[in-house]
Amino acid sequence: MGTSKKPGETLVLDTPRAFAPLLGPSRYKGAHGGRGSGKSWFFAGLLVEWCILNPGARVVCVREVQKSLRESVKLLIEDMIKLMGVEGQFRSLSDSIITPGGGIILFQGMADHTKESIKSLEGFDVAYVEEAQTMTKGSLEMLRPTIRKTYQDGTHAEIWFSWNPRAAEDPVNKFLRGPDPPPDSVVIESNYMDNPFFPRVLEMERQFDEQHSPERYGHIWLGHFEPAALGALWTRAALHQGRVREIPEMARIIVAVDPAISSEDGSNEHGIVAAGVGQDQRGYVLDDVTIKGGPQQWAERAVATYDRFEADAIVIEINQGGDMVRHTLKTVRPDLPIIEVRATRGKHVRAEPIAALYTMGKVSHVGTFAKLEDQLCLFTPAGYEGKGSPDRADALVWAMTELFPRMTRKDSKAMSKINPLGGRTGTSGTWMGA
Ligand SMILES: Nc1ncnc2c1ncn2[C@@H]1O[C@H](COP(=O)(O)OP(=O)(O)OP(=O)(O)O)[C@@H](O)[C@H]1O
Ligand SMILES: [Mg+2]
Repeated sequence: MGTSKKPGETLVLDTPRAFAPLLGPSRYKGAHGGRGSGKSWFFAGLLVEWCILNPGARVVCVREVQKSLRESVKLLIEDMIKLMGVEGQFRSLSDSIITPGGGIILFQGMADHTKESIKSLEGFDVAYVEEAQTMTKGSLEMLRPTIRKTYQDGTHAEIWFSWNPRAAEDPVNKFLRGPDPPPDSVVIESNYMDNPFFPRVLEMERQFDEQHSPERYGHIWLGHFEPAALGALWTRAALHQGRVREIPEMARIIVAVDPAISSEDGSNEHGIVAAGVGQDQRGYVLDDVTIKGGPQQWAERAVATYDRFEADAIVIEINQGGDMVRHTLKTVRPDLPIIEVRATRGKHVRAEPIAALYTMGKVSHVGTFAKLEDQLCLFTPAGYEGKGSPDRADALVWAMTELFPRMTRKDSKAMSKINPLGGRTGTSGTWMGA
């Protein structure tokens, strides 16, 4: 990458070879790949260079969600300005950076924009979308026609994206890597091995993940889609589409526990999931607090979660050691309302109607529960394809079964007739046991 230090003098910032196709003008530029591949550094450098070569340039750095400037690439761009030795030409303000010739770099969250407010960006030359895998379809649709300048030489304002792909259906991925990408777009893939500056500390992290999370390694470090089984009951797309950030007004909350009874060595996980039904009659997954350990530990955590969400009851699976499970909970909190359920069908048969709720857009995760979501996406009609036992997913299925009884009862005729508030309270069986 070449850039002028003073007019006429060129300073070269080394660009990893993988990024070279992005150096010329194009309407859309994309770089996807795993951690530490140099994506952010490349675009930060390109952006500083753009501002120097085009005095008065207006640039906006956006993310889907930007709760504070600390989440933005502002610091990285300031570092880049110093590294390139061009501090004299830029001036950092608290929420923006003034660029040569009186231009500006702004930092914004797309989620804070409306159809009207986005118009303030119409005169901008470049929009850089960082962590673009989280960008919603609506935000992408809003941003594209906003960045619309055309220059005398026939080139256009540019939109740049960097992302670590989660699923093929992520809007940015579909847009730039789908079957029908927009004209005048250049997209490259870059991973850590393409970054000649890949630092030692990241190499240590990479090796650690390679050893300890082999199932997530491909996503984190190689930019593969997040793990999912072929024909899985849950898809990443359904999980991501439903995701919300805040807990809405709730009508009923429960904590479901799938205790691992045979945990002689204490290595099994006890699935503990808090979920509820909102006033809007939709299901919400509030937290996954699954732990390893002995009975006392899971019971205490389940009760603490019950308190934290002011839940209505705890749901336990009593197939194995039901008395012991009940007793363990009662020792922690004698008057705890407990709903007991018994499994009479296979895991995947129980999971199917719950997965259907997601497909119908009836369930949202409040935040991201990576390990739980991994388990869900490895659940197929033929069984669980992950390693070990899907305890988190099991707890979630019990929770939703209790919250949406009509959906899951054996005699249920129509999937569409959901009355989530028709649930019982107190000790009872479900269709699985009754
Ligand atoms: N041009 C460069 N010159 C010097 N060091 C670089 C350069 N590009 C990248 N690096 C080094 O590589 C590291 C990883 O780069 P960067 O943060 O851009 O990766 P990334 O693909 O955005 O990954 P992440 O997903 O972790 O944000 C940087 O922290 C920096 O140490
Ligand atoms: Mg980055």
